[in-house]
Amino acid sequence: MESAFQKNILCIGAGYVGGPTMAMIAYKCPQYRVNVVDINPIRIQEWNSSELPIFEPGLDEIVAEVRGKNLFFTTDIDKGIHDADIIFVSVNTPTKTFGVGAGMAADLQYWEKTARQILRCSESSKIIVEKSTLPVKTALAMERILKSDNSHIHFEVLSNPEFLAEGTAIQDLENPDRVLIGCSQTESGFKAMEQIVEIYANWIPKERILTSNIWSSELSKLVANAFLAQRISSINAISELCEKTEADVKEVARAIGMDTRIGNKFLNASVGFGGSCFQKDILNLVYLCRSYGLNIVADYWESVVSINNHQKERFVLNMLKAMFNTLAGKKICLFGFAFKADTGDTRETPARYVAQKLLEENAELVISDPQALQNAQKDMHGVTGKIHYIKDPYAAAQGCHAIAIITEWDLYRHLDYKKIFSSMNKPAFIFDGRNIVDHNILFDIGFNVYPIGKPALTHF
Ligand SMILES: NC(=O)c1ccc[n+]([C@@H]2O[C@H](COP(=O)([O-])OP(=O)(O)OC[C@H]3O[C@@H](n4cnc5c(N)ncnc54)[C@H](O)[C@@H]3O)[C@@H](O)[C@H]2O)c1
Repeated sequence: MESAFQKNILCIGAGYVGGPTMAMIAYKCPQYRVNVVDINPIRIQEWNSSELPIFEPGLDEIVAEVRGKNLFFTTDIDKGIHDADIIFVSVNTPTKTFGVGAGMAADLQYWEKTARQILRCSESSKIIVEKSTLPVKTALAMERILKSDNSHIHFEVLSNPEFLAEGTAIQDLENPDRVLIGCSQTESGFKAMEQIVEIYANWIPKERILTSNIWSSELSKLVANAFLAQRISSINAISELCEKTEADVKEVARAIGMDTRIGNKFLNASVGFGGSCFQKDILNLVYLCRSYGLNIVADYWESVVSINNHQKERFVLNMLKAMFNTLAGKKICLFGFAFKADTGDTRETPARYVAQKLLEENAELVISDPQALQNAQKDMHGVTGKIHYIKDPYAAAQGCHAIAIITEWDLYRHLDYKKIFSSMNKPAFIFDGRNIVDHNILFDIGFNVYPIGKPALTHF
């Protein structure tokens, strides 16, 4: 049967990247049919319901607009592959937990399974687009698998890494700084690349659609995340020095950020970065460097992760020290469990580390978050200790000895801290792991205030 659509696009992997990116393509390109498939039937069921599996501002509206018209979520991967002209592969590529490269290298098992399935189910030539973040040279492995049965079908493998940030995914997809498409420097490579450019050109100005060779494209994604994480670790490293010297990290960040060569973004000191990507991608980069014998380069990038671990550790140690070196039996409220604001995602969240360490000190925990409590409960499953999950921040803080702000949810900036203070155990402590509240006002209310990267304000 002739399709009414100009192109049939498939995305394998209906996660944080696959779902929103395909929703945006479907929304901007009504002339294409976009199918999103996943091996996880619950995820697909959720994408087809009114409770989407992920929270992103603006996502519900876009999905509601196009789902069932030109955006479809199904578990029928074989048929999806068979019918597709272009296949985006957006499966997860976590850090390997076993064998050679465990704890460092990317685990490519999901990726490879997808390649084999594409080969098995294809009866016509297709463009395969790497959307997942992958080690440089992965396209070569993909190509080898796809060419392994010597059939007449041609698969052209391209790289089109995703640069969206969770929490602002819809904004980032609608108005990206750039889109990057890498291809083999061959006639068929360029031809395929033009087809992918054509998709994005439906709503993105041509000058923001970059093209490159495929290896530069693969590597650029790892490097972008490494640079972003490096900036966070740089300011976090300075925050520790500020605490020792009575400098104020916010003032330092402002002063250096006004230098246009440095820029003022991504200079907020915090309890540390989290999320499914930064650590994984840096470790992947480090592993790659080591595999080429570039040990000094590898050490340099690995230190970004070490500083991040150090920052999380010292946040908890500061809490312990401030609260008279004992947390046993004390009730501590975590404001936020998501790894950043405006997402329910808790993968690699610093909150998980902080919670674990506080429980090891026999503290009682109250975890509060406007979007991530379900994930928090899953993450903390099986961890011993007393944990309560309370969405309302006022109820959560009631009777607590301390609050630790872990996620920079806007909500926490505007609470009635007088009311909160009066409901807490005294002396009441607040550890601002994001520097988002007014420390002087909180101090005047009566809190002992511990910001990141500036001297504590205490009543003792
Ligand atoms: N999350 C982000 O902010 C972000 C941003 C840019 C790039 N990335 C990269 O994009 C990729 C996907 O990340 P994510 O956060 O969307 O992951 P995710 O875990 O949310 O989603 C991946 C999905 O792929 C599915 N899947 C795995 N194997 C499959 C298979 N063989 N067939 C069909 N489905 C399969 C899983 O069930 C899952 O639903 C990763 O490589 C990640 O590094 C993520």
